[in-house]
Amino acid sequence: MVTPPRARPSYGIDQPNLVVGLGAAAFILVMFGVFLAGGTGATASGFGPYVAGLVCLLGSLAMIVGSLRGKPRLWRQVLDRQELRGDETALDAGTGRGLVAVELARRLPDGHVDAVDIWRGRDQTGNSREAAQLNLEVTGTAERVALHRADLREPLPFPDGHFDLVAVSLTLRSLPLRGERDEATRELTRVLKPGGRLIVVDTARTAEYESVLRALDLDDVVRSGPWLSIYPPARVVTARKPGRTSTRTSGKR
Ligand SMILES: C[S@@+](CC[C@H](N)C(=O)[O-])C[C@H]1O[C@@H](n2cnc3c(N)ncnc32)[C@H](O)[C@@H]1O
Repeated sequence: MVTPPRARPSYGIDQPNLVVGLGAAAFILVMFGVFLAGGTGATASGFGPYVAGLVCLLGSLAMIVGSLRGKPRLWRQVLDRQELRGDETALDAGTGRGLVAVELARRLPDGHVDAVDIWRGRDQTGNSREAAQLNLEVTGTAERVALHRADLREPLPFPDGHFDLVAVSLTLRSLPLRGERDEATRELTRVLKPGGRLIVVDTARTAEYESVLRALDLDDVVRSGPWLSIYPPARVVTARKPGRTSTRTSGKR
C-alpha cells in the first residue's frame, strides 16, 4: 500500500532518552509508593514516592509539549522580531528535522538557507537528513534550503562573512567539551557577514555563550530571561558582528 504524503511537517521530540527516562522513573516511583503503602493506595508512607513520581511525569510531559509546541512558537516569535528584508542568506546550525530552517525560509522568499547537522539519533526522535528534507518539501521551502552534513566541531564548509543570520537551536549544548563549544561559536561568527546577527537558543550554558561572544568583541550581546514554553526553560542569546548593518532587530529580545 502506498503511504500518502504528509500534509504537515513533523519535527520530533528532543532528548528522547531523557523523556523516556523521566517517564520510567515516574512509573517506578509510583510502584514504589504503592509497595510502601502495602497496596492500599496513598498513605503517608507512599506519599513521598508519589510526589517524586508526579514531578518526573510532569517533567517528561513538559519536554514533549516543549518540543512539539513551545519551541516552534519561540522560534517564530524570535524570527518575527528580526525585521528581515526577505533576501538574506541564513545558516541553521544543527538543524535536526529542519524546524528553524523552515521558519527561516518562510521569512526569506528571495533568500537562501543552508542547514547543517550530523543527524544524531539520540538528540531528536527520527532525526535524519531524509526527515529534514521531507519537512522542507511538505512546507514548500525545499528550493530555498540546502542541507549539508557538517560537524560543528570542525571548520564549517562556508567562506568567511557569508551569512546575514546564523541560528542555533538546542545544539551547542550537545558539544560536551568547553573548548569544542568555544571553537564552534568562533566558527559561527566567522561565517557571519559584518553586521550579521547570531541567535542562539539553548536550555543550558547560555551565560557561557554570552561571555564567549563578548570576548569575540561582538556587538549588542544580549541574553534573554527564561522562556518557559520549553522545558527545561530556554534562553535566547543574540549578538551582532561589528560592521555594516546587515539585518535589523525590533522589539523585546
Ligand atoms: C536537540 S536537536 C535540535 C535540532 C534543531 N535545531 C531543533 O531545534 O529542532 C540537536 C541537534 O544537534 C545536532 N548535533 C549534535 N552534535 C552536533 C555536531 N557536533 N555537529 C552538528 N550537529 C550536531 C544533532 O544531530 C541534532 O540534530
